[in-house]
Amino acid sequence: MTNLTLTIFLLCVCRSFQKEFITAYGPGLEPDKIVMPARYFFINCSLSDSTYIPQLANDVAIEINGKSTDKNNNCRVWVNKLDRKDGSFIVRYKVYNKCMDLSINIFYKGKHIKKSPFTYKGPIYPDQCDCPQKDLHRWLQEYGCPKIYDQIENDLQIYQNVDMNTVIKKILKKYHKPESTSFCHYVIKDNTIHRNCYGRHVGFNMFSDNILLFLARKVIMPDMELVINLGDWPLVHKNSEPVPIFSWCGSDDTFDIVMPTYDITESTLENMGRVTLDILSVQGSVSYAWKDRENRAIWRGRDSRLERLKLVDISRMNPDLFNVSLTNFFFFRDKEAEYGPKAPHISFFNFFDYKYQINIDGTVAAYRMPYLLAGGGMVMKQDSPYYEHFYKQLNAWEHYVPVSRDLSDLKERVLWARKNDDKAKIIANNARNFANNYLLPQHIICYHAVLFLEWSKKIKSTVTIKEDMTPIPQPDFPCECNGKEYHEEL
Ligand SMILES: *[C@@H]1O[C@H](CO)[C@@H](O)[C@H](O)[C@H]1NC(C)=O
Ligand SMILES: *[C@@H]1O[C@H](CO)[C@@H](O)[C@H](O)[C@H]1NC(C)=O
Repeated sequence: MTNLTLTIFLLCVCRSFQKEFITAYGPGLEPDKIVMPARYFFINCSLSDSTYIPQLANDVAIEINGKSTDKNNNCRVWVNKLDRKDGSFIVRYKVYNKCMDLSINIFYKGKHIKKSPFTYKGPIYPDQCDCPQKDLHRWLQEYGCPKIYDQIENDLQIYQNVDMNTVIKKILKKYHKPESTSFCHYVIKDNTIHRNCYGRHVGFNMFSDNILLFLARKVIMPDMELVINLGDWPLVHKNSEPVPIFSWCGSDDTFDIVMPTYDITESTLENMGRVTLDILSVQGSVSYAWKDRENRAIWRGRDSRLERLKLVDISRMNPDLFNVSLTNFFFFRDKEAEYGPKAPHISFFNFFDYKYQINIDGTVAAYRMPYLLAGGGMVMKQDSPYYEHFYKQLNAWEHYVPVSRDLSDLKERVLWARKNDDKAKIIANNARNFANNYLLPQHIICYHAVLFLEWSKKIKSTVTIKEDMTPIPQPDFPCECNGKEYHEEL
């Protein structure tokens, strides 16, 4: 072999070798079964952990197309590729109308990777189509949902044969304080949603409405009644009679049934929509790989808890270890001179210019935790009685570094991380993997679906729509279910 043929031979071998090892996986490759506002899948090009080759972003290309059901127009699909800067990509796409013959093409240097194109006869529905499947158990299985979650089992175990008529009376008597609490009583009957809300500040019911409407468009929900707390604080203290109230934040001293926060639920339902902060975009928006990040701890936030002021003190004494500022004064306005001036907001994505991120409670759990875990940094989490639906699955020193409630060991923890960079990096990787395994839109939707199914089994009273309830209609979106009209066209 001449030198030239040898070079060409090797180039070909390497190229095909690499192409063979590119894998694509994720719920977005089952668009017929898993309907989401934005579907997503992953492409992994790397043979080892965190190989970053900037050129890859040019070599990997995605094309998604299909036919629309009205005549021979193409269906409208918007595709977005996020570079995770570790040799892997996230691909998100949004389907705007019903698609037939969808095809997902993944190219490496202009050639299909193995198994590409992925093709689907259809119909592929956009999220807004009101085309519920009949069988919830089958839907849960196809959607890739687990059968049960420990947190759900734990939260619901005290309830059996619940008579909702009695429960509602008790809840109204004890918890209806218009000045301080706001909640909604929902009834789901024959897959339609109705509610009655109580309290001064009920605007947040749009979040609970949206997830219930979302589910009812996908699958026929069991009849049920439930009460959803619209405030941050859990309500049912352990020294009082347990009544079932669903809350976004749980705590060690309350009975509230915890559900994913309105924040992560909205980022799930608005993915690629008006919300920019979600677990997928965090991963595509970091600027640096671990080794290039600054080895200090960063934090920004408002003054909603005394420890947050203490954090400023600690940071001022150790500017070489921290970059911390308050962005707003509301709870401790009188301390503004001492702890200010308030700093301008920085983009959440810039948190990940640093290796370590601090998570301190606000009024309750800080709802930024899912996004911090996803950012590829090492999260330092303050001990707290408050928790979100997934906290019990997290382990200290595996997914995050624990910090005492009074922050007395915070500085020590940063010094530890600096000395043990390899261990800190492993914790950071574990955190990101956790976010990808448990906190993506598919998982947040599953958690709600399993929670509502399990709850419906606990109710023994007959579910009826109450006279004064407001119906919550599905959005008006033209969409024929079952692809019937498509076959007629043929
Ligand atoms: C990509 O695959 C390799 C080999 O299986 C694995 O070591 C690596 O962790 C994967 N990367 C990502 C980001 O999943
Ligand atoms: C703290 O972080 C901000 C945002 O990244 C940066 O602009 C500022 O210069 C940093 N301050 C210090 C003292 O490092």
